[in-house]
Amino acid sequence: MSPRILCSIGTRPEAIKMAPVILALRAHPEADVRVLATAQHRELLDEVLDLFDIRPDIDLDLMEHDQKLPELTARLITPIDEVLERERPDIMLAEGDTTTVFVSALAAFYRSIPFGHVEAGLRTGKLGVPFPEEMNRTLTSRLARWHFAPTQTAAASLRNEGVPADRIHITGNPVIDALLMTAEMGLPLHVDLDPKRRLVLVTAHRRENFGAPFLQVCRALRTLADRNPDIEILYPVHPNPNVVGVAARELAAHPRIKLCDPLPYGSFITAMKRSTLILTDSGGVQEEAPSLAKPVLLLRSETERPEAVAAGVVKLVGPVHDRIVSEAERLLRDEDAYKEMARGVSPYGDGKAAARITDVLLGG
Ligand code: UD1
Ligand code: UDP
Repeated sequence: MSPRILCSIGTRPEAIKMAPVILALRAHPEADVRVLATAQHRELLDEVLDLFDIRPDIDLDLMEHDQKLPELTARLITPIDEVLERERPDIMLAEGDTTTVFVSALAAFYRSIPFGHVEAGLRTGKLGVPFPEEMNRTLTSRLARWHFAPTQTAAASLRNEGVPADRIHITGNPVIDALLMTAEMGLPLHVDLDPKRRLVLVTAHRRENFGAPFLQVCRALRTLADRNPDIEILYPVHPNPNVVGVAARELAAHPRIKLCDPLPYGSFITAMKRSTLILTDSGGVQEEAPSLAKPVLLLRSETERPEAVAAGVVKLVGPVHDRIVSEAERLLRDEDAYKEMARGVSPYGDGKAAARITDVLLGG
């Protein structure tokens, strides 16, 4: 009998990374695949699902404006449990370290449904960094039956925590599957950029950076734009209200800093390709940019993705004004330093993660 697999997704990056997995599972003759959208994100989630032509079978439509962690966690658990009671899946699957993922794993545990964790084993080793993602993914590992680790490093972290080796599968990260599928489409950017200026692309949304650290990031962007007239900064602003207001207040007036709404995934890939340099605190962008040979300065003090840092193509600068400015200017002004970091490497996958995950769950 075909196993019933329920894929749970809540936010933009989960949709991007689960899309290739859902499509691969659906293409397998032995699977009965259903998609649960918690809609922890709304517009950001819908855009990605439309791109990959995935219609959720169940949509809990849970997002609220400026949601806080406790209320979000509480709002998720009972509706997810009700879905599990109705659907009675044989396997539940989710990706990453958001509140949706942790609560999905917990709800599956309460109903003794085996849980598969995609992108398992990422760790900074500090439970509060990033916040709350390190806690979410650590607890999710305790609850999971299948651990789909993107890299050797992630697999080693799981083994160190006592996860049996036969439950860990090194698959690569399906973000690279999604990137390759979407980059091929060559979707338009739909933002007017000055062709004579080099593009610095920015994203930022981490909770631990809210407040003073995020202000430093904004001020560093202003300093960079002021001192480097040959650059233009494009910043698609994450809709979290802790980000939007500050970004608008600090940056909107600058003639060479362009703030825009979050870009559709295909357009964002086009923006990455068009950029000279990327400043970000995003998990997914850290994984994608090295494949596109774009240097990344990471606006974080720690990363759970050490592979690209070790390869020398991502550099940790923290949300610290002076370091952001000096490292960005070094790359903008020193051609050799730039070339060193603009090497195309892909430590996070080869585009076949979804096929490997499908093989483990359903056989080849
Ligand atoms: C969440 C995840 C984070 C992930 C990020 C990806 C948690 C705790 N955080 O952070 O791990 O890296 O998503 O982007 O799971 N909003 C909208 N429209 C949307 C999405 C968000 O308006 O489509 C606004 C809402 O006001 C919402 C707020 O952003 O309340 C925060 O959303 P939430 O999912 O709680 O946190 P993120 O910062 O997006
Ligand atoms: N992304 C996008 N549009 C944007 C900014 C980012 O489609 O305007 C994509 C990006 O390519 C990556 C993912 O969103 O695949 C990362 O999501 P985010 O930074 O919100 O979350 P994280 O990866 O940090 O959890």
